[in-house]
Amino acid sequence: MSKIVKVLLLAFLAFSQMACSYINSTDNLDNQVDKLLAQMTLDEKIGQLVQKNGDHPNLDKMIEEGGIGSVLNQVNPDEVLRIQRLAVEESRLGIPLLIARDVIHGFRTILPIPLAQAASWNLTLVEEGARVAATEAASQGVRWSFAPMIDLTRDPRWGRIAEGFGEDPLLNGEFGAAVVRGFQGDSLSNPTSIAACPKHFAAYGWAEGGRDYNTANISESDLYDIVLPPFIKVFEAGAATTMTAFNEINGIPATGHAPLLRDLLRNKWNFQGVVVSDWESVTQMEVHGYTQNPKQSALKAMQATVDMEMASTAYETHLKELIADGKIEEKDIDDAVKRILRLKFELGLFDNPYAHTAEFPELLNPKHLNVAKTMAQESAVLLKNSNRVLPLSDDIKTLVVIGPLADAPHDQLGTWIFDGRKEDAITPLQSLKAMAKEKGIELKYHRALETSRSKNIIGKQAILNDVRRADLVLLFLGEESILSGESHSLANIDLQGAQMELVEMVATVGKPVVATILAGRPVTFERVEPMLDAVLYAWHPGTMAGPAIADLLFGVVSPSGKLPVTFPRHVGQIPIYYNHKRTGKPASNQTWERLDDIPVEAPQLSIGNTSHYLDYGFEPMYPFGYGLSYSSFQISEVKIEGSKLSVGDKLIVSALLTNTGDHEAAEVVQVYTHQLVGSRTRPVKELRAFQKVLLSPDDSAHIKFSINTNDLGFHNPAMEYVVEPGQYHIWVGNSSEHGIQLSFEIIN
Ligand code: GLC
Repeated sequence: MSKIVKVLLLAFLAFSQMACSYINSTDNLDNQVDKLLAQMTLDEKIGQLVQKNGDHPNLDKMIEEGGIGSVLNQVNPDEVLRIQRLAVEESRLGIPLLIARDVIHGFRTILPIPLAQAASWNLTLVEEGARVAATEAASQGVRWSFAPMIDLTRDPRWGRIAEGFGEDPLLNGEFGAAVVRGFQGDSLSNPTSIAACPKHFAAYGWAEGGRDYNTANISESDLYDIVLPPFIKVFEAGAATTMTAFNEINGIPATGHAPLLRDLLRNKWNFQGVVVSDWESVTQMEVHGYTQNPKQSALKAMQATVDMEMASTAYETHLKELIADGKIEEKDIDDAVKRILRLKFELGLFDNPYAHTAEFPELLNPKHLNVAKTMAQESAVLLKNSNRVLPLSDDIKTLVVIGPLADAPHDQLGTWIFDGRKEDAITPLQSLKAMAKEKGIELKYHRALETSRSKNIIGKQAILNDVRRADLVLLFLGEESILSGESHSLANIDLQGAQMELVEMVATVGKPVVATILAGRPVTFERVEPMLDAVLYAWHPGTMAGPAIADLLFGVVSPSGKLPVTFPRHVGQIPIYYNHKRTGKPASNQTWERLDDIPVEAPQLSIGNTSHYLDYGFEPMYPFGYGLSYSSFQISEVKIEGSKLSVGDKLIVSALLTNTGDHEAAEVVQVYTHQLVGSRTRPVKELRAFQKVLLSPDDSAHIKFSINTNDLGFHNPAMEYVVEPGQYHIWVGNSSEHGIQLSFEIIN
């Protein structure tokens, strides 16, 4: 063999060995990670801890030098391929990039907002939706999504209530885990899988006043019994990463919160995954007044075991100095690098760094769109239906549709839709027109308001003329998508602009009025609620809002959603939530509702001395877990096996559910418990289990729940998780306010 050929052969072998000298399929993951780490310079190690936006001016150079571990917000498949090739084929060690994106509720096929998804109470469907989102995102090269957001909140003023799964720990945990399973699939190495990132760790939804990014002052018991349990659920589901929060928790910014991140998440929960900061939340610790400069911010974040810094530059600028100062050891950096490399190996990026887009299903394919439509149907909550005005009767020959949100293809998609497009969206007006044409119904449309915030109603006379001729009015109310989401909190959550005046104007004609509300949060509309014959709360339902809402209104499918969050009558009632404490003076039957006639010159203590508002009582507009159907259901034969249980026993609850109506429909049977006396006061109700059951008219189903009594505990004053002996109530019903009550005892 000639010398030239021999040299070329050796060079080829050397290259192929170098390019994958740490990839040896017989090696286990840890060995592969260790082998690669051993070859890395300190600069290359620090490079893995750096995440940059896709439009960063020095992106290519930093990638070629091994100075970036992850890129977010680049989803053009050709560009993703180009920068991945730079990393894999041009940098010294060829370590692939983690390509990340906020795939919050769909990628190109936009699903209902997460709050709406929670309203479906259908875990299987939500997992399926996440699978659709993952497949579409992965087809473009994205392999890491910054979702699910499981920041439990009790405050609809907070704009990001749209992005989570409501006020309940069980729902946030279960739906968060469903999204993790959908994103990550059976194996992270599957090219359609993307790493999940449950966020934000932690207590971001506890923002004081519902004002985004605001201080979270939270008791230890609320932190450990309300806010953290959903994170345990998602990590048990195998979430590969998590993200820190912008807020401080009782004075310590989450991104530098060593007790929470290092001591609890890492050491106690043994979380081995990647922790990424939120956007510049590392350097924002200086703004918080927790650090003096970026160098100290880098120290605090590294001490808290934050692996990757999103967007800001503290790590790349100061970690070497911190080692030189003896403030951190290179081993600390090694630990972070290993977690990141491990994730890249688990995603199969070393073997298959490039997305083969052509091999994936089409974006927006019929199957994906059908999942989106089904989810939009199952997420809608029927809040009112007087005289069964819905579903629309076959006798209707003339309809008038009114309101800007009937035809708002961008806004129906909701917040956090980076890759959704309005041109893909089918609006309620489009679908209603099509269905009306099919049925020979005359349909007129009036926008009436430029936007939901407009103060002037356009074309009043024309509207009234058409309402007078119509058999029924379909009003579309709510808020545009810009009014919820990050940094979009509201002090006033009333229906915006002149919408309530619009309702009052239309109601004067006396025709049946059906309101469909599109919003990213609970809005308040008590003033006009009596003028509405029916209210369908559709949230921001995504790409397929139109077909879903039309099917619901015409009765092709019955609404089956239930509220994942309490609806206040007035913003002044906030915080208002179902799993509240009794207090020593709970609202009574007299003070449950608002007091209409407050006597004059009444003696100070003559009016109900209980915890309520004189002007709004105690009652919410609509309670957690509430939602109507086109059919009716009966829950009967509620039984529990054994009324005396030991800790660790299973509490077996059974019931018979019957569809007593004339419409095929699904009911969500919910199980709540209450510990009557505890070493801390206990919530009046806590959701423990639920099942959504579809039944035809006159059909019945025996349903059974198995609840582990270990799950009935809480953190006592010594902050020990305990399940205490004593008397418990249990309810089986179809909302947090209506159920059949039984009792049981935990004896030890
Ligand atoms: C944001 C959000 C976070 C998101 C990140 C990247 O500010 O708080 O949820 O994942 O930036 O877009």
